[in-house]
Amino acid sequence: MKNVLRLCAESEVIEGVPVSVEIEGIPPLAVYRVDDEIYVTNRTCTHGDADLTEGFQEGDLIECPFHGGSFSIKTGGVVNLPCSVPLKTYSAQVVDGFVCIEKP
Ligand code: FES
Repeated sequence: MKNVLRLCAESEVIEGVPVSVEIEGIPPLAVYRVDDEIYVTNRTCTHGDADLTEGFQEGDLIECPFHGGSFSIKTGGVVNLPCSVPLKTYSAQVVDGFVCIEKP
């Protein structure tokens, strides 16, 4: 990967406890562990200004803390209303113990 961004240490990411990452110049991100794989999405719900890392992760679903809409962490697809716009996802890799994505 060129233009790699390091988001956080892989060891910080515990299933059920998404990690919030803020890097200047890109939208805030959420990092999740699901079945021992790491996934990255935008942190802000597409329905409103909610921080999804303050929501509720169950398996590969993240439920928004504001109105209860939910998304697939793996695909960003909408699972429950009132969300209707998919969540942006990023392809994550673990390099030297750090969760990385290609700079968007
Ligand atoms: Fe997320 Fe409304 S802000 S469901």
